[in-house]
Amino acid sequence: MQGSANLNLMIKAARKAARSLVKDFREVENLQVSAKGPGDFVSRADREAERIIKEELRGGRPTYGWLGEETGAEAGEDPTRRWIVDPLDGTTNFLHGLPHWAVSIALEHRGEVVAGVIYDPVKDEMFVAEKGQGAWMNDRRMRVSGRGAMIEAIFATGVPFGGRGTLPATLQDLARLMPVCAGVRRWGSAALDLAYVAAGRVDGYWERGISAWDMAAGLILVREAGGFAQGLRAGAKPLEDGGVIAGNAALFEPFAAIIRG
Ligand code: IPD
Ligand code: CA
Repeated sequence: MQGSANLNLMIKAARKAARSLVKDFREVENLQVSAKGPGDFVSRADREAERIIKEELRGGRPTYGWLGEETGAEAGEDPTRRWIVDPLDGTTNFLHGLPHWAVSIALEHRGEVVAGVIYDPVKDEMFVAEKGQGAWMNDRRMRVSGRGAMIEAIFATGVPFGGRGTLPATLQDLARLMPVCAGVRRWGSAALDLAYVAAGRVDGYWERGISAWDMAAGLILVREAGGFAQGLRAGAKPLEDGGVIAGNAALFEPFAAIIRG
């Protein structure tokens, strides 16, 4: 795929942050055995990754706005464009030495995500998409799955933790969905869940109570791979809704009907 200058900048930033994170991830594996655990170390790794990405992106496009998980929102001189960044999605996995986490970078233009990059450095999988250009994984075109029967389909989700208020609704989702599908996976990275829908590895994904940076890049991956990605409430914009539902074209409707109740 011949990406735009913006996409290439995003890829460069993701790779650079990932190099720093991979180094830290090796250290985290050693820290598991220490009494204090790797908590503070991981927070620093996360912040450092965001610093690297911000330096690259704002260096290349000084007028764009910014929304990052660690540093929050900053208006840019150009009010129509902003970067939406999760430097480390799957922090709990990272903290526990589980090799499933990613860097996620999106570019929004006039309220719409127009480019997305999700990079999983442990598996060296680079998922990218640009509006109208399709979705790609390591230079291979991605397509959502063609599965059309709920009972054969698998779905990813995030189950709320640490007393989050969305737990009862998610448990109800699971009670309705699990009897009619082939399984539900909880991988621990919303960005990779969406990338996997785009890659046809899972047939759908939903999650309640997530943030714009968790999903922004994944939304365009799914859409450019031929799937649907919407806010959890029908008609709501996912970035504003705080909930997302995504799926292949054949199953999106029955799946969404179950989740929306
Ligand atoms: C989390 C992960 C997780 C999802 C949570 C997110 P973080 O992001 O994407 O899979 O279930 O809702 O907050 O904290 O690892 O960046
Ligand atoms: Ca996240």
